[in-house]
Amino acid sequence: MPAEPPPDPRRILVTGAAGFIGSALARHLIAGTPHHVLAVDKLTYAASPEALAPAAGDPRYAFLKADICDGAAMAQAFAAFRPDAVMHLAAETHVDRSIDAPATFVQTNVVGTATLLDVATEHWRGLDEAGRARFRFLHVSTDEVFGSLGPEGAFDEATPYDPRSPYSASKASSDHLVRAWHHTYGLPVLVTNCSNNYGPYQFPEKLVPLMILKALAGEPLPVYGRGDNVRDWLYVTDHAEALLRVVRAGRPGGTYMIGGRSERTNLQVVEAICAEVDALAPPLPDGRPRHALIGFVADRPGHDFRYAIDPARIERELGWAPRHGFADGLRATVAWYLASRDWWAPILERSYRGQRLGLAVARQAGIAAAPRAAG
Ligand code: NAD
Ligand code: TYD
Repeated sequence: MPAEPPPDPRRILVTGAAGFIGSALARHLIAGTPHHVLAVDKLTYAASPEALAPAAGDPRYAFLKADICDGAAMAQAFAAFRPDAVMHLAAETHVDRSIDAPATFVQTNVVGTATLLDVATEHWRGLDEAGRARFRFLHVSTDEVFGSLGPEGAFDEATPYDPRSPYSASKASSDHLVRAWHHTYGLPVLVTNCSNNYGPYQFPEKLVPLMILKALAGEPLPVYGRGDNVRDWLYVTDHAEALLRVVRAGRPGGTYMIGGRSERTNLQVVEAICAEVDALAPPLPDGRPRHALIGFVADRPGHDFRYAIDPARIERELGWAPRHGFADGLRATVAWYLASRDWWAPILERSYRGQRLGLAVARQAGIAAAPRAAG
C-alpha cells in the first residue's frame, strides 16, 4: 500500500458542504485532519446546516452561504480564504427532480461549474510557483455519466461517456468542462466518478432514506418497475476518505473511479432495509413484517438498468479501500435514521413529504400550458 503523504495543513474550499456527502467530508476534514475548511453552500432544499454542527465551533472551519453561479461571490471567497484546494460537490443531484425540471440542473451543474473553474483559474494564476504546483481542483462526479450497463462488466477510467438522464447529462457536461480547463489552461484538476452513496443526513428523496422512513411509518414502499435495476453502494464516509486521498495524492489531470464493489438490485436493498427496520424498530401495529409493504410502481422514464464501478486504480495507486460492507453500513444508517427524528421530521413536515417524483407529469403539464407562439 503506498505511503500516505505527510499531513500538511491545507486550506480546502468545499462547495456543496451542507449536502449529504459535502457535510460528511467537512466533518471528516475537521475531526480527522489538520486542514482548514471554507464550507460554501447556497442552502437549497437539499442542504442541511445541522449536518455541519459538529465542525462549526472549530477555529479551522468557516461557512459561507453563496451560489457557485455567482462569480463575484466566488472570487471574493477565493480572495479572502486563499484555498490551495477546491473540492467541488455543489450540484443538483436527484435524477427524478431532473426529469421534472432540468433547467436548474443545467444552471448549477454546468454554468456553476464553469463559473467556479474560471474563478479557480484566476486564483491559481495569481499564486507563486510553489502555490501553483500545490493547488488542486477536485471535481466530484458520478458513475451515471457512463450510462447503463447490461448484466456484465463495470465502468472504469476508460469507459466512454453515455449519459441518459438530465442529471447525468449535466454532470457529464461538467466533467468535460473540468478536463477542458486542464488541457486548455493547465489548471491542476482531478475528477472522481463515484457510485451510489448511503449513510446519515441523506435527503429523504433518495432510495435508502425514503424507504427507511416509509418502512418505519408503515407506508407502502414504492419500488420502480420490477426492482431488478442494480446500483453499486458505498457508505458515505468511505467516499469522503477516498476524496481526501485523491486530493492529496492523485495525479493532476487524472480520473479515479470510486466504488465499494457492492452491487445490489433495488429489491434486495429495500428487502434489507425492511429487515433492519424490523430488527431495530417497534413492530407494525398489524404484526406484518415490513417487506409486506413493498409494491411495484410505474418505472422511472429512461431508468438506467445497472451501474457498477471497477475501483482497481484508486485501490492500487492510492491504497484506498472502503471500511464498511453493505450489511454493517446499512445497519448503521437505519440506526442513525431511527435515532434522528429531530433531523428528518421537520424535512417531511416542511419541504418533502415522500411523494412520487420524476414521472415528468409536471413537465408535460408545463409544456401543454405554455402559450403557443403566434402564427
Ligand atoms: P446533495 O443534494 O445532498 O447536496 C448538494 C448540496 O449542494 C446542497 O447542500 C445544496 O444546497 C448545494 N448546492 C446546490 N446548488 C448550489 C449552488 N448553485 N451553489 C452552491 N451550493 C449549491 O448532494 P450529494 O448527494 O451530497 O452529492 C454531492 C456531489 O456528489 C454531487 O456533485 C453529486 O453529483 C456527487 N455524487 C453523489 C452521489 C450520491 O450517491 N449522492 C454519488 C456520486 C456522486
Ligand atoms: P436514487 O436514490 O434516486 O439514486 P439514482 O437514481 O441516482 O441511482 O435511486 C436509486 C434506485 O432506486 C434507482 O434505480 C431508482 C430506484 N428507486 C425506487 O425504486 N423507488 C424510489 O422511490 C426511489 C426514490 C428510487
